[in-house]
Amino acid sequence: MNLATSLVDAALDRSVVFGYTKIGSQLRRRWWADDPGRQALAGKRVVVTGATSGLGEAMAQSFAELGATVHLVGRNAEKVRRSAATIRSSVPSAVIVEELCDVSDLEAVRAWTADLAARAPAVHGLVHNAGLIPSERAESAQGHEVQLATHVLGPHLMTEGLLPLLMAAGGASVVWMSSGGMYTSPLIDDDLEYRTGYSGIRAYARTKRMQVVLADAWARRLAGSDVRVESMHPGWAETPGVAESLPLFRAITRPLLRDAVDGADTAVWLVATRPQSTPGHFWHDRIQRPTTVGWQRGEDPTKVGNFLRQVSQLTDTPEDWPGLGR
Ligand SMILES: NC(=O)c1ccc[n+]([C@@H]2O[C@H](COP(=O)([O-])OP(=O)(O)OC[C@H]3O[C@@H](n4cnc5c(N)ncnc54)[C@H](OP(=O)(O)O)[C@@H]3O)[C@@H](O)[C@H]2O)c1
Repeated sequence: MNLATSLVDAALDRSVVFGYTKIGSQLRRRWWADDPGRQALAGKRVVVTGATSGLGEAMAQSFAELGATVHLVGRNAEKVRRSAATIRSSVPSAVIVEELCDVSDLEAVRAWTADLAARAPAVHGLVHNAGLIPSERAESAQGHEVQLATHVLGPHLMTEGLLPLLMAAGGASVVWMSSGGMYTSPLIDDDLEYRTGYSGIRAYARTKRMQVVLADAWARRLAGSDVRVESMHPGWAETPGVAESLPLFRAITRPLLRDAVDGADTAVWLVATRPQSTPGHFWHDRIQRPTTVGWQRGEDPTKVGNFLRQVSQLTDTPEDWPGLGR
């Protein structure tokens, strides 16, 4: 990318509306990095959570088109079966494995990762895509606020559980599907469970910020290995989740929303091409993006440390965080 396109690209990003809608991807397509090769993922295995709708189903199909064996993880057996059938009918060569796991249920995640480890020798791609925005505060099977459980605790535990398979891949990628909404929240290191003053949208932004911080910490932890860890946001895409949770937003932005394949593009590209990235590790439209903007300061290492320790404790996993602030 030359200086002029860099400036245009950054201006699109700062404008939000132009960058996040399909205007952004249509323009950036002219200068963004090359597509992966036709069978870039042949012989590789990719796990997608929340693969029964929207971006997850779209990326699962794209992974299958690139030759990967794709494990569709969902919490509803009928929806998993339906999505698998849809992908198989449009990609006849697809190898799809139907998986049932509620990502917010830590016991289910523990059991499912152990089960997969007994069935598969390696995982080359893991996309933490499952997400939701309940308007009322709800709790997971273990009593955690459900967005915290779905966006942060479950994916963290799943990454821990699949680590031996990721390490065995000889080059793997973990991608956290965050949101541009994360820019609206600082990292919260007290009241992770959002016990006071709950708002669904704020809980969403808080946990999407946590995903970015957690992915960055995982990238630091695995820096000496060949497992890459990134987070990203998809822009604004037309999906069943947006229709259900953000009807007004959808009504206003609909003509400009990306389609699900477009929203999923960067996740597919990250797994298929494994680009180098620098601390922050946050992407949109195939370009690494800042994790804070304008008036926001970089993350406070003490807060990051507090947050990471709590994630480890809540998931009963090792506090293995290099350079953890105290
Ligand atoms: N679309 C956008 O513009 C946009 C923008 C920013 C970020 N994102 C992020 O992109 C991801 C996908 O969003 P989407 O728009 O495609 O939403 P979607 O259409 O609602 O799809 C969400 C998927 O996550 C699954 N899911 C939710 N909770 C789960 C759980 N506990 N265990 C397993 N699966 C679970 C859903 O399954 P069920 O059908 O069973 O609920 C569904 O398959 C989310 O993380 C979202 O935050 C989307």
